[in-house]
Amino acid sequence: MINEQKPTAKKTVFSGVQPSGNLTIGNYLGALSNFTEFTETYNCYYCVVDQHAITIRQVPAELRQRTYEVLALYIACGLDPDKCTLFVQSHVHEHAELAWILNCFTMFGELSRMTQFKDKSSKNTGNVNAGLFTYPVLMAADILLYQADLVPVGADQNQHLEITRDIAERFNNLYSPTFTIPDAYIPKEGAKIMSLADPTKKMSKSDENDFASVRILDPRDGIIKKFKRAVTDSDTRVVMEPGKDGINNLITIYSCFTGKTVEEIEREFEGRGYGEFKLAVGEVCADALAPVQARFAELMNDRAYLESVMKTGAAKASHTAARTLSKVKRKVGFVIL
Ligand code: TRP
Repeated sequence: MINEQKPTAKKTVFSGVQPSGNLTIGNYLGALSNFTEFTETYNCYYCVVDQHAITIRQVPAELRQRTYEVLALYIACGLDPDKCTLFVQSHVHEHAELAWILNCFTMFGELSRMTQFKDKSSKNTGNVNAGLFTYPVLMAADILLYQADLVPVGADQNQHLEITRDIAERFNNLYSPTFTIPDAYIPKEGAKIMSLADPTKKMSKSDENDFASVRILDPRDGIIKKFKRAVTDSDTRVVMEPGKDGINNLITIYSCFTGKTVEEIEREFEGRGYGEFKLAVGEVCADALAPVQARFAELMNDRAYLESVMKTGAAKASHTAARTLSKVKRKVGFVIL
């Protein structure tokens, strides 16, 4: 059979968010808030990756609830389900099927080098399961099924993108061109929002210290309180400088929410001290999140609507995924009936 052309000339974007933990402003600024602009120019797939989430033990009711929540957040952050494909990974069986095949084209040594695996396995010594180890292969399947050109991710996921490219190239070379080789899209600003409690660490949605992360759904007074408590240094100048990790992070956050440049911010807060600056960061953050939170609350009250989005999304996604998977099955030598 002749390689089919892509149905549209538009390039394809794929990204996924895990329904584990409560999403933070790091997820918002680094990912969700940028997703909307892609839908104008790209054919976009945004996935709630529940199968990735179970590589760490989850409470079933919470996983289910968070799956609805992430979908609602996607929409609340501005994604229009009619302009992109929003879906849940476990609703499209092709992901798990392709992941199995790609497992057989991924080397033990490659996976052993993944820093996220090393990190997560040292934090979960009681449950270093095979899924945690092959996590990047499932991620590769997610991306390659849709022939994605561009994958918006945080800087910490770059290594997983590299292994995805390696797997795709290996498969293409062994058989014939099958997969598009994807590029990572790492936003310059907001790619890495750091913890408010330890600004040398990335802000994480699973951090146990409540004051480390600002959640997208935190109430206004909570947000302001968290920024007030943010760890800084013993200096008083609001300037971006090496060694001032806490202030640098707050300047980045303020810049992301206001669109102001670092120089503008330094000028604005000259001679005003950290207290005033922290309050201002808290206020712009709370102001920006208020409409997202209001829309989220409405959506969470309408499960029927969210489920209809999931159903439509799964059908659209599966249409594309099935085409890629059937090509792959043919190439590896499975009997196609
Ligand atoms: N591993 C990603 C993360 O933790 C989530 C993810 C799963 C993903 N599959 C993906 C991101 C495919 C982009 C593309 O952030």
